[in-house]
Amino acid sequence: MTVHIGAEKGEIAETVLMPGDPYRAKWAAETFLTDAKLVNEVRGMLGFTGTWNGHKVTIQGSGMGMPSLSIYVNELIRDYGAKTLIRIGSCGGMQEKVKVRDVIIAMTASTINSPSSGIFKEFNFAPAADWSLLQAAVTAAEAKGTPTHVGGIYSSDVFYDERPDLNEQMTRHGILGVEMEAAELYTLAARYGCQALAVLTVSDHLQTGEALPSEERERSFGDMVEIALSAAFSER
Ligand code: HPA
Repeated sequence: MTVHIGAEKGEIAETVLMPGDPYRAKWAAETFLTDAKLVNEVRGMLGFTGTWNGHKVTIQGSGMGMPSLSIYVNELIRDYGAKTLIRIGSCGGMQEKVKVRDVIIAMTASTINSPSSGIFKEFNFAPAADWSLLQAAVTAAEAKGTPTHVGGIYSSDVFYDERPDLNEQMTRHGILGVEMEAAELYTLAARYGCQALAVLTVSDHLQTGEALPSEERERSFGDMVEIALSAAFSER
């Protein structure tokens, strides 16, 4: 047990999928894992461990935003020995070519601020995905035929953003989508020698205002979970 995770040592797999929403963790575990067992419910941040094609895997909610994700990722890596961490979540599209329901595989995650910003001071660290995981995820997405974009995303620390100029600059510089967690996940993975990736479903679009209807969310999110699982357990 740690401060925020109630699982016993050994109940968390080396491979962890992390949706922001704890109920999406429950849905993904019930839908894709065999013998999924609830291993954490501290603060309602549900975590499940089961198997996928015989491989042990944990699906643990991260909560919304980098401060929340940072707590879970620190404890998963430092106390439970997690080695491969894949965020599965939603994002807002920021380019015309990026459509609602598409998948974005995040090569880099730019950010204006994260829980790690303090340690870097004036230095701009570039949070980047693990290459072998990224490559495996792209291969899995191509095999499924899921419309997929690979490139940079923006991890914002606010959802209700009062700086539209920042979004404009991100779009101008080719950023594919905005979410709120990946930059800190990539930074922590770099710090502790782990592998990390974010596979995201575009749930809404900043320019067009289009948003995924709730009844369609599950199917689109299912592709993303399968891509993440295939990548995690591919021969790399
Ligand atoms: N902003 C930040 N995070 C998000 C968004 C957004 O527009 N859509 C989905 N996650």
